[in-house]
Amino acid sequence: MRAAFASRFDDADPLAALTVGEQPEPTPWDDDWVTVQVLASSLNHHDLWSLRGVGLGADRLPMILGCDAVGVGPDGNEVVVYPVIADKGDPRGISLLSEHAQGTLAERVAVPRSNLLPLPAGLSATDAACLPTAWLTAWRMLRTVGRVDEGDAVLVQGAGGGVATAAVALALAMGKRVYATSRDAAKRERIAALGATAVEPGARLPERVDVVVETVGAATFDHSLKSAAPMARIVVSGATAGHEPKVNLRRIFAMQLQILGTSMGTPDDMAQLLAFCAEHGVRPVVDSVHPFSQVEEAFARLHSGDVFGKVVVDHTR
Ligand SMILES: NC(=O)c1ccc[n+]([C@@H]2O[C@H](COP(=O)([O-])OP(=O)(O)OC[C@H]3O[C@@H](n4cnc5c(N)ncnc54)[C@H](OP(=O)(O)O)[C@@H]3O)[C@@H](O)[C@H]2O)c1
Repeated sequence: MRAAFASRFDDADPLAALTVGEQPEPTPWDDDWVTVQVLASSLNHHDLWSLRGVGLGADRLPMILGCDAVGVGPDGNEVVVYPVIADKGDPRGISLLSEHAQGTLAERVAVPRSNLLPLPAGLSATDAACLPTAWLTAWRMLRTVGRVDEGDAVLVQGAGGGVATAAVALALAMGKRVYATSRDAAKRERIAALGATAVEPGARLPERVDVVVETVGAATFDHSLKSAAPMARIVVSGATAGHEPKVNLRRIFAMQLQILGTSMGTPDDMAQLLAFCAEHGVRPVVDSVHPFSQVEEAFARLHSGDVFGKVVVDHTR
């Protein structure tokens, strides 16, 4: 079957490590695994990390990339694939598709049957393909870990990204006052059009916030600390711009801040996210949709850093 996979690693030029070509059919790990015919997927920064060799060992190559998929399940129904699998071979006890089990950027993907959720009515395959990784992570950052219901104001750093645009859209749909930073003036305009207050990175906010959504890391972490209200939660799920920021500990104890790490979400989080999007009419922010036949262009787009929302791949074309 055709697939997009990492055949080697290249830290300096991850796109050079991407291969598009034939790969064997996915192998189910167990009797309860089923095969899904993929209709749509979306890219995540995770796919670029994999091509750089971060979180993926050379012994696992070639590895089909992609965490997100919407497809047709074994019963002929359209399904959203929950991308986290139980994995005894991983110190976390879990792994994502494309880490140990082959990923979704292919004609077919094998997953446990319990990882299939019905595609909600009214949601297209390309829209729903944005939800399993970036949107799930943003949902858990806000709701489950950030306890956003206890506060009124949210700051989202690096707002052009997939997780960040999800956090902006979800926090707005939850009725919160949302501030978002972006380095790019055009992206700030687009964030403002969603209903958030867009500011330059590092700018003083008109108020301190209760929850900070932090995926950028070193470049924005000091601003996250300075913008936090007493008892605020700074929720970290990524570190695109560096994972070793300088941290002012005085500010943490004086303001009684909580720095909380999180990754992906539980099946319950996923079900709540799908229900919330259906109930509130929330639709993913899509940067661009690329036919699978041009999947390299989709990767180049993500790698450019110029994205606003999710980069989606249509597997029917
Ligand atoms: N732990 C998890 O479960 C999980 C799940 C999903 C993602 N993540 C992580 O979260 C991060 C974002 O993922 P994504 O898929 O949303 O990535 P993405 O779509 O590629 O996000 C890119 C965004 O990051 C911001 N950015 C990049 N470099 C920056 C810099 N030097 N200074 C300031 N901002 C910078 C940019 O914002 P502006 O251009 O708007 O400034 C850009 O729009 C990644 O590190 C990813 O690995 C983790």
